[in-house]
Amino acid sequence: MPHSVRAVVARSKGEPVTVEIIEVPDPGPGEVLVAVQACGVCHTDLHYREGAINDDFPFLLGHEAAGIVEEIGTGVTNVAVGDFVVLNWRAVCGQCRSCLRGRPWYCFATHNATQKMTLDGVELSPALGIGAFAEKTLVAAGQATKVDSAARPEVAGLIGCGVMAGLGAAMNTGGVSRGDSVAVFGCGGVGDAAIAGSHLAGAHTIIAVDIDDRKLEIARNFGATHTVNSTSEDPIEAIRGLTGGNGVDVAIEAVGLPATYEQAFYSRDLAGTVVLVGVPNPEMKIELPMIEVFGRGGTLKSSWYGDCLPSRDFPMLIDLYLQGRLDLDRFVSETIALDKVEEAFHAMERGEVLRSVVVL
Ligand SMILES: NC(=O)c1ccc[n+]([C@@H]2O[C@H](COP(=O)([O-])OP(=O)(O)OC[C@H]3O[C@@H](n4cnc5c(N)ncnc54)[C@H](O)[C@@H]3O)[C@@H](O)[C@H]2O)c1
Ligand SMILES: [Zn+2]
Ligand SMILES: [Zn+2]
Repeated sequence: MPHSVRAVVARSKGEPVTVEIIEVPDPGPGEVLVAVQACGVCHTDLHYREGAINDDFPFLLGHEAAGIVEEIGTGVTNVAVGDFVVLNWRAVCGQCRSCLRGRPWYCFATHNATQKMTLDGVELSPALGIGAFAEKTLVAAGQATKVDSAARPEVAGLIGCGVMAGLGAAMNTGGVSRGDSVAVFGCGGVGDAAIAGSHLAGAHTIIAVDIDDRKLEIARNFGATHTVNSTSEDPIEAIRGLTGGNGVDVAIEAVGLPATYEQAFYSRDLAGTVVLVGVPNPEMKIELPMIEVFGRGGTLKSSWYGDCLPSRDFPMLIDLYLQGRLDLDRFVSETIALDKVEEAFHAMERGEVLRSVVVL
């Protein structure tokens, strides 16, 4: 029997989202039905509703979620009914050329549930293959990772996207380690997680860059040792000034704009690393003198989901949280009801929140 549940849908480009009754099928082979308990509002949900990702409307939004496994399909062995799980949007296949080379975090064939959730008979496109602003959602079994149920859902869910992307951008992609200097451009949920990850990895200098003083204030709480408001001073000069004239070892772009990418590029030391974790839109272009790309050496990387491996990283990060070594509570600016997602987008645009979290 399909399940009729309340869910947040973006019907067309730029239009406010609405709460609808959608149909969620029972899990088929390799699928899991999850009763969602909490789901964070990520900037990527807004990108979807603005048509900046693709035109596959209607979208079922929400993808930073935790919940309880309610039903499992045949052949599912990694989770059981009643497990507390965090959902992920990169279920690795184990068989593609990247997985077979021993690099499953880059899996080139990640997968989602096979069956579709629907609205009035129309197939929904779940954001990042999840769609968790819904009382129940259907995912591939590999998208559900069991974690310690002592963590509260509104915090645990954040590991499923922005926090993992930011922590992983620093710890996995950027390889930040003891004594490094780091600059993070954009101090939203993702950027602050990159700051927290740099702190956890032992970085010595962590420079937060944003255009909003409120965000810079919060960034200090996550471990930023210095802050730069790039509307009032040149961030490249400021970062060089804070690093003995050299620039940082790792520069992390967490906005998704050409201007901040270029700032990151020029803010790093020789042989340093630039990590792009912010998501650009398809029209954006960067222009860099090729001699600078060569002459500065080092590495230019992109971070897909913090280059994480959910089965390895989610339980570990939840354990660090429960041990008091990773402050995830601070990411939750407010908890809201399902019908307040549109307001949460506006609060995000006004820079008032790190994460609004829908609690079901
Ligand atoms: N790579 C991934 O896997 C992944 C995963 C999740 C999110 N993202 C992306 O990361 C980015 C950040 O997401 P978020 O949820 O933290 O968004 P957010 O809106 O909460 O934060 C963005 C921050 O950037 C700041 N900012 C805006 N323009 C700036 C500028 N010119 N210079 C400096 N700072 C500026 C804003 O003040 C804000 O603090 C988005 O592009 C999102 O789509 C990527
Ligand atoms: Zn997200
Ligand atoms: Zn694979």
